[in-house]
This record gives sequence, structure tokens and C-alpha cells, in this order.
Amino acid sequence: MSSEERFLNEKILRKLDKQLEEISDRVGVDRKTLDEVFDKSTLHTLGKLISDRVIDIVDFPISTGKEGNVFRAVKPDKKLVAVKIYRVSTSTFKHVSKYIIGDPRFSSLRRTKRDIIYAWTKKEYKNLERLQNINVNAPKPVAYLNNVLVMQYIGYKNKPAPLLKDVSLDHPKEMFDTLLGFISKMYKEAELVHADFSVFNVLLFRNKPYIIDLGQGVLLEHPLSDEFLRRDISNIIRYFKKYNIYEDEKRIYNRITNKQW
Ligand SMILES: Nc1ncnc2c1ncn2[C@@H]1O[C@H](COP(=O)(O)OP(=O)(O)OP(=O)(O)O)[C@@H](O)[C@H]1O
Ligand SMILES: [Mg+2]
Repeated sequence: MSSEERFLNEKILRKLDKQLEEISDRVGVDRKTLDEVFDKSTLHTLGKLISDRVIDIVDFPISTGKEGNVFRAVKPDKKLVAVKIYRVSTSTFKHVSKYIIGDPRFSSLRRTKRDIIYAWTKKEYKNLERLQNINVNAPKPVAYLNNVLVMQYIGYKNKPAPLLKDVSLDHPKEMFDTLLGFISKMYKEAELVHADFSVFNVLLFRNKPYIIDLGQGVLLEHPLSDEFLRRDISNIIRYFKKYNIYEDEKRIYNRITNKQW
């Protein structure tokens, strides 16, 4: 690294540090929690995304989960994006190998925890890419680097879109059909099974559902893809019973796959 590059890097890291300080003040997250997410290598990764002008400012946290955190960020052109950061240090990633091993796209993976998390981030990016051409609403992927995924922000200026599970639906049957349609299109047109499809992973934005959280999504050739598909279908059918919508999961599975349950 030249001295000029080093200077630039330090400048960006200082800028990031200031942004984190501001986030910490603004939303009352203590700095220790933030530092757990933004460990040194993650800071460098974000620094690289800033110097490559993918993002400009990390804005505020949208969600803190078990394996990762999602922040809103602003691009140099002022457009908003969502930045999902998988935690390397404190993540458990217990069942992760089930979704990665068996996926031909990741067969030659050296399996340290860091490698797996980086591969997982890339897999989420690739899965989002697959959804762009098939008319299934999902955030547009913007970039990925190491454990950081940048994608389209789904939400309003002042708040992110709510999860489907937190919304009371006026037209539940339409939503139900749309979601099963998404599962079917993913299967038939993208050869993809979400594998964690539920109302916890659907955002509702301007009355339209957007599918998120595709890290665990697998291709049809994955040995467990049928099992995951059956679970996805069951999740949705079970949830919509509260709206008095009843459907037979086996029938839907057969209709999508032309196979018996
Ligand atoms: N593109 C996006 N635009 C707006 N909000 C988003 C976006 N992606 C994710 N979110 C928000 O961040 C939350 C967590 O994202 P996601 O479901 O992808 O991660 P996760 O690994 O499931 O995290 P958790 O452990 O919290 O379940 C979502 O519930 C949603 O509220
Ligand atoms: Mg989720």
C-alpha cells in the first residue's frame, strides 16, 4: 500500500469512526455493541466500499439479529441502500453447513468460520440476483464484499418497510396467492428454494410484498431442496389460517413441482 493509499484509508476509517459515534449518540446504541458488529476487518471492508463509492454514509441501524445487523446507508448519489453485515466474531451459524454443503456453487470452499460467512454473504447476493429477472419482488443487489452485502433499501424516507407478520391485511387471499406464486416462480424460473420463507422474511412496501433474507436459499439440485420447499409452503399455509384461508400443502407442492409430497 502506498503512503497515499494509507492516508486515504486512515481518512476513511476516521470518517467511519465519526459516523459510528453519531449513530451511537443518535439511536442510543452503546459503542461497545456497535464495535462488536464493526470489528476491525469489517471496518476495512466498509472503508473499501466507501472508497469505491458504493456507499457514502452509514445512516442508522434497521435491525439487530442473531447472525447479523442491517443498517441503512446513503450512496454518493444520495440514494438509500440497506447494508447487511454478518457478524464474524459473535455469530453462531449453527446450521449453516446444511445450506452451503451440497450447493455446487460453493463446493470448493475452505471451511473456516470466516470463509463460510463470506461465502454466505456472496450466496445471498447471488440469490438476490436470480430474483431480478423473474418478477419476484426482492431488494436489488448492489454489491458484496467479505461479510457485507449492499442492496436496495425497501422502505420510506423516515422508516423501513414493516414485516408482513406485523401488518393486518385487507386482502389476505390476494397476498396468499401472490406469495405462493413467488415460491412457484422461484422454483420454476430461478431454480431456487428460499428455505426460510415466512412472514418474518417478507417486507410490505406500498402494498406489495418483497422477499428478503436469501442467504440460506438453495438451488434445486441441493439434496434437501424439496424438504426446504415443503417447509416454505407449510409456513405460509399455516400463517394464513388466521385469515380463514385454508389450502392443502400437498396439493400446492404437487402443483409447483409435479411431484408427490
Ligand atoms: N433491503 C432491506 N430494506 C429494508 N429493510 C431491510 C432490508 N433487508 C433487511 N431489512 C430489515 O432487517 C431485518 C433483518 O434482515 P434479514 O431478515 O435479512 O436478516 P436475518 O439474518 O433474518 O436477521 P434476524 O436474525 O433478525 O432474523 C429484516 O427483518 C428487515 O426489517
Ligand atoms: Mg430474517
